[in-house]
Amino acid sequence: MRIQPAPPEVHDEFYDAAGRFWLPVARSVDVPIGGRLASRLLGEDLVVWRDYHGQVTVLDNLCLHRGTMLSDGEVTGSGNLACPYHGWEYGSDGACVRIPQLPPETKIPSKARVGAHPVREQNGLIWTRLASSGEAEADVPPCPNFGEAAWTFHVGTPSDWHCQATRMVENFLDVAHFGYIHADTFGNPDVSSVVPTSVRTSPDMLHIDAKVPYLARDPWGKPPEGQDFAVVDVEYDYHYDVPFTAWIRGVTKGDEYILFVSAAPRTVAETTVFWAFGVPDSLQVSADEIERRENAVFSPDRFIVEGQRPEWLPLDLAAELHMRFDSIGLNLRRSLNHHGFPVVSLLRA
Ligand code: FES
Ligand SMILES: [Fe+2]
Repeated sequence: MRIQPAPPEVHDEFYDAAGRFWLPVARSVDVPIGGRLASRLLGEDLVVWRDYHGQVTVLDNLCLHRGTMLSDGEVTGSGNLACPYHGWEYGSDGACVRIPQLPPETKIPSKARVGAHPVREQNGLIWTRLASSGEAEADVPPCPNFGEAAWTFHVGTPSDWHCQATRMVENFLDVAHFGYIHADTFGNPDVSSVVPTSVRTSPDMLHIDAKVPYLARDPWGKPPEGQDFAVVDVEYDYHYDVPFTAWIRGVTKGDEYILFVSAAPRTVAETTVFWAFGVPDSLQVSADEIERRENAVFSPDRFIVEGQRPEWLPLDLAAELHMRFDSIGLNLRRSLNHHGFPVVSLLRA
């Protein structure tokens, strides 16, 4: 079996489809007042910066003068972003507002402007939408319970995965692998059949909901006499927002938590995974502990996903085999196809 490279026009189709949605580019905490940061989304280099009023701006990360990265510059006292090379300053609409080499009162050419992108700040993340025209396909995906008084969320350290964002998010919604690759955390090796119930796709094919009952391993519980590990009944609610966002609500014995992920494609084959983990205030878990636990869960997922081929998630449903327990992923593939993501055939016998 040979895998063909995806032709360049398919990359553009992927970027065009994804660009109509709000996608995350940074954590809010990583862009403090007066701070700036380089990001990459859908093959475009971006600079994200925050002025002294707290307003965040997302611009193309390329000074018009000589192609310097604006993210190496500084936020000035007046809240503009200054290029590090010759000090040209850009405002939040992308217009160049100061060229220090010109005599005062000289008009700045209207061509001196870099691309500016809309910004939302939600769920502890900064989101943008790269399509230059048309309406957003959907709002920024909400994270349940985020910002509520009785809940504490830790917005996790983003990580870069060598995979297509579609593969990452489908893995997050895959329920059949728990006992195989997560047996050292929550996966119960004695339960090989996990089947989602009431899988529903919304009529606009933007959201999928499902329930997944599971007898999980409880890695922090004391094993009963004669058993190797403790188990706990969990009711998982799964939710997916086209194209790359999903969350799980896990409810056990009155406790619950939310794990939210949004996979941002840096390119068609490189992804930054943003995530947040929330628990009710009554459950006290430190940020360090959350990072440690979630890294232990994400690591084997990442290992598997980075090795999947083709890197492009096959939206041609005949390309891979689907079983009843794959129904969330199957619906995800249909939804992506419906929203303009390309069907690419890359396998050749
Ligand atoms: S390259 Fe940016 S000011 Fe010259
Ligand atoms: Fe997993």
